[in-house]
Amino acid sequence: MDELNYNIDIPEFGKLSSHSSIVVLSGAGISQESGIKTFRDNDGLWEEYNVNEVATPEAWSKNRDLVLRFYNERRRQLLAVEPNDAHRYLAKLQNHVNTQIITQNIDDLHERGGSRNVLHLHGELRKARSSVDDTLLYDVEGWELKDGDLCEKGSQLRPHVVWFGEMVPMMIPATRLVSEADFLIVVGTSLNVYPAAGLLFDVSKGVPIVVIDPSEMDLSRFSNVYHIREKASVAVKNLVLKMLASL
Ligand code: APR
Repeated sequence: MDELNYNIDIPEFGKLSSHSSIVVLSGAGISQESGIKTFRDNDGLWEEYNVNEVATPEAWSKNRDLVLRFYNERRRQLLAVEPNDAHRYLAKLQNHVNTQIITQNIDDLHERGGSRNVLHLHGELRKARSSVDDTLLYDVEGWELKDGDLCEKGSQLRPHVVWFGEMVPMMIPATRLVSEADFLIVVGTSLNVYPAAGLLFDVSKGVPIVVIDPSEMDLSRFSNVYHIREKASVAVKNLVLKMLASL
């Protein structure tokens, strides 16, 4: 594994073309510079809240109001922040090369940064879901989802978020996309949470994995990995400009 900073010199750049298939896996770190807390950094969200009280099906049945308040607070924050260069440059890349974004984030900053067809593994904060019929989805108007907001079948709406212990239905398309990728860019994720982190094992042999994250990481379990120890807004911009220049 090579530690890269600015001379992002990846041999496979030579084979890159506008027909290449690039997949991006992003995590909370890509939104950190927009002002959204990550989960496991020092001041992370899980320092402030007990996961089991706000992000599990048991929490929902035990203390619905606390769960609604937790996500309402995050939705209120989300409405007050903007995408950063990392989101925007990935959208630029998508305009020139077949690029599929898979995110663990429930924020909509990729979309607001201009990306299309974003695959949300863990759901979407600005959507609500019927608690009796998973196919019934609704946009949350504003920042509040309240007790008494009901679906058309009369059941309470819940955040459209994958809670700990729940299935991750989007893993099926995500695994297929990664297995067909020519290039995998991983941005701002501690790779602590499975099955999402397991996607790095699904790349075909020899496909380069570029990990963008300022922190020290043990990536030895993955092959053909390049670690750019830089924050996302700077490193994604440099990587995308370098990739576009090599087309
Ligand atoms: N640029 C790039 N990376 C950053 C930046 C930044 N500016 N700031 C922090 N990071 C990195 C951290 O070093 C860390 O490795 O982002 C990563 C954030 O890791 P986590 O907080 O664990 O977030 P994530 O990996 O997205 O968590 C995965 O866990 O709690 C669940 O469902 C939740 O989707 C989430 C999942």
